[in-house]
Amino acid sequence: GETYYYNWNITETSYTRLCSTKKILTVNGKFPGPALHVHRGDIVFINVVNHGTYNITLHWHGVKQPRNPWSDGPEYITQCPIQVGSSFTYEINFTTEEGTIWWHAHSDWSRATVHGPIFVYPKHGTSYPFSKPYSEVPIILGSWYKGDVMEIIEEALLNGGEPNVSDAHTINGQPGDLYPCSKAGTFRLLVEKDKTHLLRIINAGMNEEMFFAIANHSLTVVGSDGSYLKPTTTNYIMITPGQTMDCLFKADQRPSHYYMASRAYSDGTGVAFDNTTTTAIVQYSGPYTPPSSPFFPTLPYYNDTDAATNYTKSLRSLATKDHPINVPKSFHTRVYTTISVNTLPCFNNSCDGPNGSRLSSSMNNISFRNPSINILLAYYKKIRGVYDTDFPDEPPYYFNFTADDLPANLSTPLVGTKVKVVNFNSVVEVVFQGTNLIAGESHPLHLHGFSFFWVGWGFGNFNKTTDPKGYNLVDPPEINTVAVPKNGWAAIRFRADNPGVWFMHCHLERHLSWGMETVFIVKNGNSLLTSIRQKPKYMPPC
Ligand code: C2O
Ligand code: CU
Repeated sequence: GETYYYNWNITETSYTRLCSTKKILTVNGKFPGPALHVHRGDIVFINVVNHGTYNITLHWHGVKQPRNPWSDGPEYITQCPIQVGSSFTYEINFTTEEGTIWWHAHSDWSRATVHGPIFVYPKHGTSYPFSKPYSEVPIILGSWYKGDVMEIIEEALLNGGEPNVSDAHTINGQPGDLYPCSKAGTFRLLVEKDKTHLLRIINAGMNEEMFFAIANHSLTVVGSDGSYLKPTTTNYIMITPGQTMDCLFKADQRPSHYYMASRAYSDGTGVAFDNTTTTAIVQYSGPYTPPSSPFFPTLPYYNDTDAATNYTKSLRSLATKDHPINVPKSFHTRVYTTISVNTLPCFNNSCDGPNGSRLSSSMNNISFRNPSINILLAYYKKIRGVYDTDFPDEPPYYFNFTADDLPANLSTPLVGTKVKVVNFNSVVEVVFQGTNLIAGESHPLHLHGFSFFWVGWGFGNFNKTTDPKGYNLVDPPEINTVAVPKNGWAAIRFRADNPGVWFMHCHLERHLSWGMETVFIVKNGNSLLTSIRQKPKYMPPC
């Protein structure tokens, strides 16, 4: 492979959207941020210089970083943030992932504007499992806030209520025609008639799962989260924050322009969001007579859970001789964990959550708190008192998690920094159990350091006797972010062959801020080559 070196400057730059201008955090002044183009097998060094006004970290979402959690990025998990005025060099090793992944800031809410795509082309000398597309374009779905995102989350945590909803959804940083004074900036994708184009779609949105479609054109999904899928043709896709979808589409219609559009999917009760559709334009090159009324795609309705799950469950790993998968047929450790939105008492009884409480989130009733130094360093240097290793393998009580009436004792989580330690090379199964404590809602759960097999899902409570019988152990998608359905469960499996400290969290940013996360520590193997790499000489201090 090749080795590349880049300098990335974090700067505050003015951008105007929805008729108002504000300063946002960017990499090299760009929003969305710069794209990385690499081949599988390459190594990239990125020196990040923080000229902004907030401490920051960057994360390479979907890169496994074998044995090198030092460059993974989540603040207080694998590093302390890069302070204003200082710098840190990330080393990014592209080993097994291939397709589209992305990078984003991993400190507070800075990822709202600090993010960009990563194109991972096949290893030199190999090719795609489909014919080479004529062109490849990133389609980044995002959220735009008129206010300062850091102030929005700070205020929400202080008042205990829901953070403000974003003021627009965006495609490649643009709200599109249907939002006020956004028409001029609307993203246009030029296509050649009868050619096939590859859309590398990323949901970089903060809190919104999205439907996406192109008028009069179907999409053929060929990959997700940096691994290949069996091609499936569909009229729309559903993509949750954190996920990527690689979609081919053929410009096989009458030359004209056609809208591509995306709309939030929200099945939660009381979860407010801006439900304007965001648009961009697919434009055929060459002259044509513009249509009298524009071609607009049909998107599922915002709360159409059937449409969301029908799409998601149609995905299968490619699983061919050239792209084999190795699904573990059994497991050593199962972590069965609830994922809940719940409440904590308010210090002064007048918070904005239900009955004066403050909103919170938890896994197995533990609401995660960042420690004051990073967990990786504490583990590596055996510093005590930073985290506890007793993250539970089971919820504290069994009952009908997804029914309407639930015991109040589960609405108040414990607050702590609890991690789960597993043996090197053991097989781990995690079953995420949705609950209906404040509201049933679907959650995108993301794991760092691995991709995992999404082996099963269902509605209601997970049944450990009968549900595993229905697992797909043949061609499950190999992904890094799984959409756990509303009032249901999802099961994943991975082999813990990457020693390190790996974050696992809901990729809805408000749930992450409220504590819906934990950490896996994968112990070292018994040789130097199966152990965490040595600590780099320089890591940012806390
Ligand atoms: Cu996309 Cu922990 O992140
Ligand atoms: Cu969530």
